[in-house]
Amino acid sequence: MSRHSVIAGTGSALPPRRVTNAELAEHVDTSHEWIVERTGIEARHIVGDGETTATLATEAARNALDAAGISADKIGLIVLATATPDQTFPASATKVQAALGIDDCIAFDVAAVCTGFLYALSVADNMLKGGMADYALVIGSETFSRILDWEDRTTCVLFGDGAGAIVLKVEEGADKGVLSTRLHADGRHNDLLYVSGGPSTTDTVGKVRMKGKEVFRHAVVNLAAVLNEVLDASGHTPADIDWVVPHQANKRILDATAKKLGLPPERMVVTVDQHANTSAASVPLALDVAIRDGRIQRGDLLVLEAMGGGFTWGAAIIRY
Ligand code: COA
Repeated sequence: MSRHSVIAGTGSALPPRRVTNAELAEHVDTSHEWIVERTGIEARHIVGDGETTATLATEAARNALDAAGISADKIGLIVLATATPDQTFPASATKVQAALGIDDCIAFDVAAVCTGFLYALSVADNMLKGGMADYALVIGSETFSRILDWEDRTTCVLFGDGAGAIVLKVEEGADKGVLSTRLHADGRHNDLLYVSGGPSTTDTVGKVRMKGKEVFRHAVVNLAAVLNEVLDASGHTPADIDWVVPHQANKRILDATAKKLGLPPERMVVTVDQHANTSAASVPLALDVAIRDGRIQRGDLLVLEAMGGGFTWGAAIIRY
């Protein structure tokens, strides 16, 4: 029998501080109306003192373990997707490991920005299938507020902080768990979305820089293509999908992607209005929200997708 990675539980974490568009408009030349019309975003959560990518990731992981009814000592693999690690090294995954009291397991970070969770999921799925572990934590966690230029209205209104996590466990059998994943990168587009610093180039961490219109154009084309690819790989059509759990960058990108695929917009899980773009955290955060509010039920066919800096993009199809 073949090994499959099944979602045993999900969890998420948001910093308590919620910042509305109106509050942002007090500091930068923007308005609630502009942000809602162009992005669908109404509010985002922002970390405070003592809250970090690893603390949010740990809280999300604990919630996922509770939901799965699995104790932390069973975990053999932690893959944490982030572009905003606590430190350049060690990996924030090892901080989560220590905070959960796990003495020995595989733990590392994956950097694919907003596509990070899809990359982490695919890596973890293949490691579980390959027999490296039987239980894994796959986490997306970000504190983008720390790398935003709060005077640049074209970027600072778009992002928020948060974390989402899933527990994967190996089960034998067919048509269950992660059915297929597809990943891509095209490094020629670095200058459209990047951070203006880093340990090997400057003595600062840098700030997010983005040419939004061009990113938007690439996003819709790439996301529709990879969604079709992952459906073909698993022998499904758009009509089979119960829920799309997309990367939450912009409501207009979600609507355009749904239209391109002929999917009813009500099959898309939308959290961008309340969370803004939380980069690698956005897909597992949206997944956890829709599972906890009862929209996503056991047995549903889910498609997860994301696109981000690099560019990177990817999708996964999962029988929940
Ligand atoms: N408030 C008010 N006005 C703003 C603004 C803000 N926060 N940000 C930009 N503007 C202004 C611009 O300066 C521009 O003014 P101008 O016409 O006088 O030059 C005008 O609004 C239109 O800007 P433009 O960039 O053309 O708007 P847009 O319709 O492309 O929307 C984004 C901008 C960023 C919302 C949109 O391009 C987008 O969502 N792109 C994708 C970004 C993304 O998803 N990134 C993450 C991928 S992981």
